[in-house]
Amino acid sequence: MNHRSIYDIFKKRKSNRFFDKTKKIPRKKILSILENANYAPNSCNLQHFSFILVDQKQLITKLAKESTEKINWSPMTLVAINDTRFSKKRSAGIQSVAASIQNIILSFEENKMGACWIAGFKNDQFIKDTLNIPKYYEITGLIIIGYKKKRIKDDYRPFKRKKDELLHVNSYDNDKKNINPSLFLHKWKFNELIEYKDRIGSVYIPRQKLNVYTHQIAKSSSDIFLNFITKNFLNTSKMDILDIATYEGSFVREINKKIKTNLYISEFSDYYLSLYKKIYKKIKTIKINKEYKIVSIRKKKFNFISLIFKIEFLPNIKKLLSETYKITHKNGYMYITSLTIFNLRCLFYLAQRLMPKSNVYEMNRLYQFGPYRYFTKYNIEKMIKESNWKIVEKGVEGKFFNKFNWWILKKY
Ligand SMILES: Cc1cc2nc3c(=O)[nH]c(=O)nc-3n(C[C@H](O)[C@H](O)[C@H](O)COP(=O)(O)O)c2cc1C
Repeated sequence: MNHRSIYDIFKKRKSNRFFDKTKKIPRKKILSILENANYAPNSCNLQHFSFILVDQKQLITKLAKESTEKINWSPMTLVAINDTRFSKKRSAGIQSVAASIQNIILSFEENKMGACWIAGFKNDQFIKDTLNIPKYYEITGLIIIGYKKKRIKDDYRPFKRKKDELLHVNSYDNDKKNINPSLFLHKWKFNELIEYKDRIGSVYIPRQKLNVYTHQIAKSSSDIFLNFITKNFLNTSKMDILDIATYEGSFVREINKKIKTNLYISEFSDYYLSLYKKIYKKIKTIKINKEYKIVSIRKKKFNFISLIFKIEFLPNIKKLLSETYKITHKNGYMYITSLTIFNLRCLFYLAQRLMPKSNVYEMNRLYQFGPYRYFTKYNIEKMIKESNWKIVEKGVEGKFFNKFNWWILKKY
């Protein structure tokens, strides 16, 4: 007998994306869980939604290929369908299916099984044809289900707002935190940027998956850095390196794998700092504020500062360059990398800005990073020249879509 309260289940449930693919949930069990969909409130009790269980391997492969690879993550998928002939006003049909899906998902958690609600899929017509779904149905969502695969990395909840951010009393309160849809960085307040990254990045960062640049780019940018420090520093184990606005951490991971140094990760948000403490047990963390000042330790200086593919996503670079200068030892360095316009994702992003309807999330390949602004190589060098830093080495690395610019600056 399970004595967990429904509140425990709300808190315990999180989207599960890693399944034991060798083990299917018995059909009888699925049916008993699905029954709970019926107990959800729904528009005028019409109950015009249903679920199709897909558990045949060939069918899963076929749908995954044409619709979304996510179907392949689990040994079975429920396809939630809604009869669109009813409950059109206020999307009441969709509201009803959504309520029933939530009941199902919580019931899987109650049974200690995994589920993930999926709306990121394409080719609805292909799914409909393959599963013989009548034309008046829409596919509202997919739910991938199965037994959870235990992974340490998955032990983190995505960021959740504090409860008092959720509720407005008697009238809309403009002071509550919100996210900004604008694609233009200059329209964002710094707090909005942090809030956005807390919300969205926390879905991907525990999986270390942000995909803004390829692994090849991450690797070559760390190789340039490693070459430089092995040439210029006799004892790398005594070096203090600070990575600015670490976020997805691909650079620090590479460095940490290859050499022994005192590596510091820095971020603006408490969420990431506590997450990093758990993920990178041996790397130290530092909190910085919107003025790029260190707030968590005092009077610390570094031999090297790195700013890896973040310059385009951060406001006030002038300030960043002057603050990093202050916290670097004399004869210390800074390493900057920046994607070129040939990166397809950046090009795509810039094209989006011409479309008035696009927002920072939907259809935007850089959405996990937030608003992006393109800097030419000339723009970046101009900002460096206006600072106290001096460029000592620079270059362009990679071919075609993997091309990026890099600079090593020195404090004399
Ligand atoms: C309507 C909807 C669509 C979603 N689509 C996807 C999706 O396409 N892929 C995915 O991995 N997760 C998807 N999710 C899961 C969300 O990413 C997840 O609920 C959110 O990050 C909060 O995390 P949690 O469920 O672990 O609390 C979706 C959730 C909802 C409600």
